[in-house]
Amino acid sequence: MNELSPLRPQLERALFLEDMVAGLSRTPKATPPKWFYDAEGSALFGEITRLPEYYPTRTEMALLDSAGPDIAVAVGPGRTVVEYGSGSAAKAVKLLSALAAPAGYLCVEIDPGAARATAAEVAKVFPDLSVRGVAGDFTHLEGEVAVGKAPRLGFFPGSTIGNFPPEEAARLLRTMRKHLGKGAQLLLGADLIKDRAELEAAYDDAAGVTARFNKNLLVRANRELGADFDLDAFDHRAVWNAEDARVEMHLVSRKDQTARVSGETFAFAAGETIHTESSYKFDQARLEALATAGGWRIEKTWIAPDHPFALTLLAA
Ligand code: AVJ
Repeated sequence: MNELSPLRPQLERALFLEDMVAGLSRTPKATPPKWFYDAEGSALFGEITRLPEYYPTRTEMALLDSAGPDIAVAVGPGRTVVEYGSGSAAKAVKLLSALAAPAGYLCVEIDPGAARATAAEVAKVFPDLSVRGVAGDFTHLEGEVAVGKAPRLGFFPGSTIGNFPPEEAARLLRTMRKHLGKGAQLLLGADLIKDRAELEAAYDDAAGVTARFNKNLLVRANRELGADFDLDAFDHRAVWNAEDARVEMHLVSRKDQTARVSGETFAFAAGETIHTESSYKFDQARLEALATAGGWRIEKTWIAPDHPFALTLLAA
């Protein structure tokens, strides 16, 4: 795994630069969403999860409560929980509380501060549990995780899987299967297709927090890459693309302009966008296709009814 420890900021900067230059060089312009999550981006995402319009986090949290006892039965005792992209400890604490005698907990999280804080919080709530936080990029998992001998339960909540187009999502689930080892299970959170108005509001809130989260990519590029994006010359846009079943976030250029990123100049026409994130949404058929393509089978699915959201337990 590509461990982005705080001791390797130059490496992280180089990877960020490479992705920004590649993303701004293609047509249409598109950048990977993982670069949202520096300390400021993680804090803004935390704010997003508390917004009235952003239903996924509180819906999944409530589903972990209501389905917890069933999940515990389907998982059984003695598994090590391996969480990908934890962000905060809240969901892990709920899952670990529901499970009968988990064997340990490890999180893989790209923001080193968030990785440390999550591990510390879980260790505080479960002082007898073996706990580890790894600052790393879960899209670069290599081989099997080294964490005890107990069978593993992967935990990939938040519909983070929705940030990846179908083929990449399947590839990611296959590498998680290898990472989790023999006899693994994976508890996957996936947001379901719903009303356009509800979807678009969740990604374009009235308070403008999601707009700040989106623009933080440019703020970060200006600070870390010496870029010169004019922050007032880009607008936030969120749109439901029904054909591809995804909410897209874009940064829309308000005028003809150029921006320099580490010596390279990029031209933007008025109205041209950087596609900064896709959040794919699912239905039963799409979830089954994803599980199969990822080398898993669906053991059980729990669905929150109010704002349809699924927790799916997959078996290797
Ligand atoms: C963290 C990927 C689940 O796609 O809903 C929230 C990120 N982007 N608002 C999502 C996000 C804009 C979020 N995930």
